[in-house]
Amino acid sequence: MANDLNGATVIILGGSSGIGLATAQAAQAAGAKVVITGRDAARLAAARKVLSNEARAEQFDAAHERPAREFFESFTGIDHIFSTVGTLVLDPKLAPSRTELRPAMGVRFWAALYAAKYGAPKMNTRGSLVFMSGTAARRPLAGAAVASASCGAVESFARSLVLDLAPIRVNVIQPGFVDTPLFDGFFGDQRDAILKAAGEKLPVKRVGRPDEIADAVLFLMKNGYVNGTVLTIDGGGLLV
Ligand SMILES: NC(=O)c1ccc[n+]([C@@H]2O[C@H](COP(=O)([O-])OP(=O)(O)OC[C@H]3O[C@@H](n4cnc5c(N)ncnc54)[C@H](OP(=O)(O)O)[C@@H]3O)[C@@H](O)[C@H]2O)c1
Repeated sequence: MANDLNGATVIILGGSSGIGLATAQAAQAAGAKVVITGRDAARLAAARKVLSNEARAEQFDAAHERPAREFFESFTGIDHIFSTVGTLVLDPKLAPSRTELRPAMGVRFWAALYAAKYGAPKMNTRGSLVFMSGTAARRPLAGAAVASASCGAVESFARSLVLDLAPIRVNVIQPGFVDTPLFDGFFGDQRDAILKAAGEKLPVKRVGRPDEIADAVLFLMKNGYVNGTVLTIDGGGLLV
């Protein structure tokens, strides 16, 4: 029987927007006690408004060790941690400076590592970690070589952690294109047209919605036999 999320404590690092916020909503609908995190206070406050009053919101940078350690110190009995944290830096021909490229590689990995290092000791043994990757780990996305490498890194990391953290389960969600605020900054007023064109190239003829990824993340949390899995949710995009 699948683990019930009713009453479970679910922490979502990077839960104030997009896929993380949709997962927080889905977990709450399933009866979980939800904690969301993010760096921006206004974004967190807006997210709190779409969640019920029981949700907790904490502001810190999950890719930095000290605040991550201090955040997890206050918990016991965590059931699931989902880290969505990651940054897309467009890097045509690796042109940006090393300082600009570092977050694209580092942020996703270090947030996952601190979640494992400081969160796992506070977890129930039936609990799980879920890390965020992307189909760019398998299919090159021009101009995103470094961000793609960060996705590959968390996938390898998760597989090793399955052995190191057992019986806590560790899985990875690997979405294709999903319509979230992530693209607002990159594409400006062209964003809708660009996402529409990207969607038309997919077998399902549209890009994904955050709630469709959230649904898959909840599956990874609830099914106690899913472990070390990278679950692709991409509308068939890897096949075309
Ligand atoms: N959308 C897609 O098509 C797609 C596809 C594949 C993979 N992904 C991955 O999915 C993840 C979430 O993307 P999204 O599309 O949902 O983007 P989004 O709507 O921009 O949400 C990103 C969330 O992560 C938080 N965050 C970012 N850096 C953080 C940090 N260092 N510490 C704490 N929180 C942090 C953001 O809040 P603050 O900015 O306030 O910190 C926000 O809550 C990313 O890792 C992205 O690479 C997205």
